[in-house]
Amino acid sequence: MRAGLMYNTFPLMNGHLVPPGLDAFQPLWLNAFENPVAVQFIHRCLALTTLAVVAGLWLGWRRAALLPPQRLALNALAAMTLLQVSLGIATLLYHVPVALGTLHQGGAVLLLSAVLAMRHWSSGGGARVGDVGATWCRELKLAELVTPGRSRT
Ligand code: HEM
Repeated sequence: MRAGLMYNTFPLMNGHLVPPGLDAFQPLWLNAFENPVAVQFIHRCLALTTLAVVAGLWLGWRRAALLPPQRLALNALAAMTLLQVSLGIATLLYHVPVALGTLHQGGAVLLLSAVLAMRHWSSGGGARVGDVGATWCRELKLAELVTPGRSRT
């Protein structure tokens, strides 16, 4: 499709916030898969939405009482999102050199890993930090140190 070889400007797409030709194909839904202009526009929108959501998450949680793995996952998620968006913009501005394109694809895998780590360390159906901490300690077989007698139940 080579959607990255057109509109090689950022943040605007050749001077347009919303580029012309987004709905060139019929039926309309086909544009999301076959129209390079629409594919690039959607890619940008999803990326910037992801950046905004992760920034909000990081700002909201950075002062919270988190366990070390939770803080690590939160920081890794924020750092990877920032890096991935920067790599994407560089890939676009330099007309998709193989090295940058490959780094950007690898970055997507690392970002997904950070999301999964974040999900793992904050899971438990609304578990409180203490609950997650207990799970963590149990996994490390440290429950006895935290709550004497707990590991025997
Ligand atoms: C959270 C942010 C982002 C994620 C997760 C992401 C993910 C990806 C993935 C998985 C691909 C490979 C698609 C394929 O090969 O079929 C890709 C390609 C690409 N992305 Fe992103 N992207 C992000 C942000 C951006 C941004 C902000 C831009 C530019 C404004 C951008 C520009 C590109 C370009 C030009 C390609 C084509 C590179 C190639 O063909 O190897 N990306 N992106």
